[in-house]
Amino acid sequence: MNMLVAGVVLAAGVGKRFQSPLPKVFHPLLGRKMVVYPIRALQEAGASRILVVIQKGWEKWLEPDAPGVEIVYQPKVTGTAEAVLMTQPHLHNFRGLLLVINGDVPLITPQTLKAFIQDYMVRKLSASFIAVKVENPAGYGRVLLSPRGEFLQIVEEAHLTQKQKREKRVNGGVYLFPAPEIFPCLQKVPRHPITGEAYLPEVLTMLKQKGKKVGVFETLNKEEVLGINTRRDFGHAIRILRQRVNEKWMLAGVTLEDPDSTFIDIDAEIQPDAIIKPFVVIEGNTKIQRGAVIGPFAHIRPQTVIGPGAHIGNFVEVKNSRIGAETKASHHAYLGDATIGKGVNIGAGTITCNYDGFQKYPTTIEEGAFIGSDSILVAPLKIGKSAYTAAGSVLTRNVPPFALAISRARERHISRWVTGRKRKKAQKK
Ligand code: UD1
Ligand code: CA
Repeated sequence: MNMLVAGVVLAAGVGKRFQSPLPKVFHPLLGRKMVVYPIRALQEAGASRILVVIQKGWEKWLEPDAPGVEIVYQPKVTGTAEAVLMTQPHLHNFRGLLLVINGDVPLITPQTLKAFIQDYMVRKLSASFIAVKVENPAGYGRVLLSPRGEFLQIVEEAHLTQKQKREKRVNGGVYLFPAPEIFPCLQKVPRHPITGEAYLPEVLTMLKQKGKKVGVFETLNKEEVLGINTRRDFGHAIRILRQRVNEKWMLAGVTLEDPDSTFIDIDAEIQPDAIIKPFVVIEGNTKIQRGAVIGPFAHIRPQTVIGPGAHIGNFVEVKNSRIGAETKASHHAYLGDATIGKGVNIGAGTITCNYDGFQKYPTTIEEGAFIGSDSILVAPLKIGKSAYTAAGSVLTRNVPPFALAISRARERHISRWVTGRKRKKAQKK
């Protein structure tokens, strides 16, 4: 198993069917870009280096999310075989295996990749790829086997005969090739006369015809090789991933009262004994600590830490904030760029006004403070320890510890005002 493996992720196609100026592979699933999934899977499967094939100018979308990967440009989208060929100058000293993954296959797991490599080594193959049998093979390359079950060919959707269309075994878009031997073969893959693309699966047929041993690694985990071509595939992948994430947290001791309406991003972290009520969205690298209760109908946005035992109730949005232990924001509030101590009560309707149209400003609320309902906290602002703010106040100045801040029009009651008005109306008639 101690073979050197270089990962190659193919991500230079725009993904026309997505109908977006943002290339398909940079669309986020559960807060993480599509292409970052195969990159992480390769890292976890032990790839010693990872090369990502993209178009010039796309590095701005890739680099911040995938530090350490090597960027390879493909000047024109001339097919997956040529995409792999672009890595050759980067790998001229590399002797080992190329583990190639289509950038639009985000559900692949490191476990499957490891098993795939293992199978390749044990069977002493020349090349191999992951195949799967699916109910609806439309859109995939179909795998044709000999009556003895040996690999013959992969035929792309566009070139299938009626009979081949019924074939349910498809190419998953994950391959193993020996380097550097594969590069001269890739150079020989012809561009298809109609589509103008050189197809990577062709190289498998060519190897087979040269008498090489080409393996078919058939996995039963169909979901893992789901290729994302349309936004419908995308929605499907999101659903599967969401289920994986939710199951992970439930098995880690988190209650999800309604997993079907719980949306937790891939990078969020939830400690055991937290309770997530229905219709909750938890985004980015948010952390929810032990015993916290979230929801129903809460929106926890990136860079947030919800402290132990805190309650975030219905229609509360929290963004880039730290909420202290046992603090409660039970109803209708917006807390953005706020640092809130422990044991604070946030009244219904409290808003941190963190944005003036140009810049974001912080709000600090120290421990034990009581924020009255409908307090408007105009940031930058600090509410001192144990201070109170009166309901309905608009606050623009720091409130000292233990003080009461009140800022609202004085209430007047005009006695018998209604009866007086009725009398006037009667006189007019
Ligand atoms: C590809 C396979 C098909 C397989 C399916 C699995 C080919 C020719 N066909 O089809 O057999 O069943 O994946 O999902 O490979 N890309 C580049 N450069 C290019 C063209 C594509 O980097 O010149 C990238 C794309 O960004 C994409 C990946 O390669 O991430 C696959 O390309 P795509 O056009 O989606 O191939 P499929 O038609 O899905
Ligand atoms: Ca695809």
